[in-house]
Amino acid sequence: MDGVTVIDHPLVQHKLTIMRRKETSTASFRRLLREISTLLCYEVTRDLELTMETIETPLTEMQAPVLEGKKLVFASILRAGNGLLEGMLELVPSARVSHVGVYRDHDTLQAVEYYFKAPESLDERLVIVVDPMLATGNSSIAAVDKLKERGARNLRFLCLLAAPEGVKNFVEAHPDVPVYTASLDSHLNEKGYIVPGLGDAGDRMYGTK
Ligand code: URA
Repeated sequence: MDGVTVIDHPLVQHKLTIMRRKETSTASFRRLLREISTLLCYEVTRDLELTMETIETPLTEMQAPVLEGKKLVFASILRAGNGLLEGMLELVPSARVSHVGVYRDHDTLQAVEYYFKAPESLDERLVIVVDPMLATGNSSIAAVDKLKERGARNLRFLCLLAAPEGVKNFVEAHPDVPVYTASLDSHLNEKGYIVPGLGDAGDRMYGTK
């Protein structure tokens, strides 16, 4: 599908399979989510710009690469997005974090924001929006709307699983935001769950069911 990168690294795929199993415990699910998010973060940042800086090693001076520009932002869509943050922050400890709480009103279909916090200068940063499940795409689209309203211009969207319906909606709404996922699953069921999926990601990571 256009606009989507499926991260097919064998370690990602293996860990994802264990997460999908219904008998996987909350503790294992959470540990695997942290591990897999580190690997996903590695892939979503693999083309970041570098700039050369003069440093001194114990032996000599050299030109060495460092990340260019302002610190990255990881924007978590509440609540399940938080499950991806820990592993990503392990890999990029200096990243800034934004939290976005949005839902789509059933009657008006408008995105209702109930929480928003972000660092300054969003317009000068790469913002990686994270949510484990891209299902209908409604909350992801709404979250990116809100981040753009606050100035974000350079965004990527990272999830664990995506449904084709959600990807289609998301790419139509935000064609400038590339989507990264570990799997493009078959479809959404009548309740909006991704099939085959892994169930409710928030419930599985927090043991709330
Ligand atoms: N959110 C989830 O947690 N799981 C789904 O399958 C769809 C949306």
